[in-house]
Amino acid sequence: MIAFRTGRKIPASAALHAVGVCPGNGAQRPSELDWEVLDGRGFEAKPGQVEIVSGQDRPIAVVGLGPADKITAAVIRRSAASLARSAKRMKRIAVSVLDAVPDSIDSADALAALAEGMTLGAYTYGDLKSEHNPNKLENVHVIGPGGRAVTEALEQGWRVAEAVCFVRDLVNEPGGSLTPTRFAEMAVEMAEREGLDITVLELDAIREAELGGLLGVNRGSEQPPRFVEVSYAPAPEAECRGSVALVGKGLTFDSGGLSIKSGAGMMTMKCDMSGGAAVLGVMAAISTVAPPVMVTGYVPMTDNMLGGDATRPGDVLTMANGKTVEVLNTDAEGRLVLADALSLACRAEPDAIVDLATLTGACMVALGPKVAGLMGNNEDWIDQLADAAERTGERVWRLPLPDDYKAQLDSSVADMKNIGGPHGGALTAGLFLSNFVDDGIPWAHLDIAGPAFTDTEDGETTKGGTGFGVRMLLDALVNFEPPTDSADG
Ligand code: BES
Ligand code: ZN
Ligand code: ZN
Repeated sequence: MIAFRTGRKIPASAALHAVGVCPGNGAQRPSELDWEVLDGRGFEAKPGQVEIVSGQDRPIAVVGLGPADKITAAVIRRSAASLARSAKRMKRIAVSVLDAVPDSIDSADALAALAEGMTLGAYTYGDLKSEHNPNKLENVHVIGPGGRAVTEALEQGWRVAEAVCFVRDLVNEPGGSLTPTRFAEMAVEMAEREGLDITVLELDAIREAELGGLLGVNRGSEQPPRFVEVSYAPAPEAECRGSVALVGKGLTFDSGGLSIKSGAGMMTMKCDMSGGAAVLGVMAAISTVAPPVMVTGYVPMTDNMLGGDATRPGDVLTMANGKTVEVLNTDAEGRLVLADALSLACRAEPDAIVDLATLTGACMVALGPKVAGLMGNNEDWIDQLADAAERTGERVWRLPLPDDYKAQLDSSVADMKNIGGPHGGALTAGLFLSNFVDDGIPWAHLDIAGPAFTDTEDGETTKGGTGFGVRMLLDALVNFEPPTDSADG
């Protein structure tokens, strides 16, 4: 965990001094830096490029920021993450990186991005290694004027990043260890720490609530399911613009069930609770960010296994809103648990709903590993989420929900089946979910199958769970306006 402090002077104990540099030949080349060495190493001051050179009192980390007129919060975040990685053997460093940032960037945004980027870049998951080599950074002294606004911006960036790291830890923990029971316990611990209201439904209560989708998916498992509901309200005297429901898929492991996955297809399926973890991550930072809306998170938790009494292809489940579903592929299980969660969310009549789910391989085929699919029934709400994602640097892309594709879900024995045709699987999954959203409630769906998990390190993204969605949802909540139109998305 990194602590950020401010001060006008470099403390004597700092093992490194980081400075920001933009490309150019004039004033952009501070004379105290050894440019012969930097040029020799091919340093071009690209965003995220970091070189450590010797300095008078201590080594200097030269951090590339790219052209000054193109610096955004995203660039600072990325460069800060590289810096945290380059300085991973040092405990205490000083940074003057923001000196090179032009005044056109809001300084609070720049400071928050610095703290966010460094905290995210320093993340490692080593709980299970006998010789863990964690990032050793503990103290970052931000050189410059202090003051309350500066401290608050750093604190905000740091706390949001810690919430993302909480999600990464949850996602990176193996499915055999992060059972639904433990996942719910982690949610309770977080809610108690943050002073949020939380309810955890256990098996009997889930039966009582008739969550047929969650029970159907859980039927092949030795592990009991959980259903978590956690909520936040703005302070009584603060502004309140309405209410938002966050719904997250919490499959602690997805074997596919009887429609079993291949060995390779299962390897990363501990990540199938990433949507649910992201919802908990939002709640973990929500009191710090204090958005002007009431927020309730709904997370159905189970694994998808193939015990002797597992749901069989052809079985029909009755979901929480009374609709019946013929399960023709037990690997299309996320939509079944989300059906119940969306139905419950609608009962509270929120002003908007957004769900996050590692829902389809088809979405990865369409958009690749780094971009989430964004669908829904309300243009305004979808735009609010897309704008938020643009600001936080999480990449989303609009996908349609064509009305006439709905017929692909027609079943001869139930209200619908849980799979569509061979093509456009991300869309038919979204259309399936739309059956569980009441008319008139603005709803958006984020298919995060691609960006939730990665095997490459890139900017502020580290290997394994990424924590995708937490920052964009917090941003969308802060800027929330009750969606206006309800035209088809
Ligand atoms: N959890 C998977 C989707 C997934 C795949 C997430 C790869 C992350 C990476 C989901 O439950 C699933 O298996 N979906 C099926 C649906 C199909 C059977 C209609 C899929 O995408 O193959
Ligand atoms: Zn599946
Ligand atoms: Zn799944």
